[in-house]
Amino acid sequence: MSYTVTIFYGSIRANRAGIRAAYYIQSKIEERQIKVNFIDPLDYPLPFLDKMYKEYEAGSAPENMQKIADFLVASDGFVIVTGEYNHSIPPVLKNLLDHYQSEYFYKPSAIVSYSAGAFGGVRSAVHLRSILAELGMPSIPRTLPIPKVSINFNESGITDNQSILKSTNKFLDEFEWYLEALKTQRLKQV
Ligand SMILES: Cc1cc2nc3c(=O)[nH]c(=O)nc-3n(C[C@H](O)[C@H](O)[C@H](O)COP(=O)(O)O)c2cc1C
Repeated sequence: MSYTVTIFYGSIRANRAGIRAAYYIQSKIEERQIKVNFIDPLDYPLPFLDKMYKEYEAGSAPENMQKIADFLVASDGFVIVTGEYNHSIPPVLKNLLDHYQSEYFYKPSAIVSYSAGAFGGVRSAVHLRSILAELGMPSIPRTLPIPKVSINFNESGITDNQSILKSTNKFLDEFEWYLEALKTQRLKQV
């Protein structure tokens, strides 16, 4: 079975570090011959939420909002790369996620969290899980917490940390299982 996955990354800070983790997971997913749509909010800026995508007449949503919607509709699952801002997710990420709804339904999500410190953003991952459940894209059991993000990765998202590499394999194996399971089920419904 072939898959398309959308990666969300949620920081627009000038000195953002998590982009390294986002590039890393993109390359690891692509190594598995899975197509990736990569949403960097610097490339696809959205306004603070006024109208959700579904509230626009067909064809009248702002260009970036429409492009993201097209990515989501074409996706079989989602990888959310979240930093930890005061034990929760970055506001840009929440704003991005909140613009959409049915585009996520019956598709699995997977959480990559990171932080500058030792805990790998696990508290934001816990918070994000309940948001993803509400959005209709339940998250897989494993998460991929990445500590000391700017030490563990170079600017291109490359790491030689064996522990991260090993965890990533298990994480993506599990994600692929859910991609297949939910896609099989969705295909029965058309
Ligand atoms: C507003 C803000 C709040 C933060 N809160 C936490 C926190 O609660 N726990 C933590 O481990 N790191 C926290 N940090 C540090 C971030 O883990 C670190 O800056 C990380 O690189 C942020 O992601 P970004 O660089 O992709 O924006 C915070 C950083 C910012 C800017």
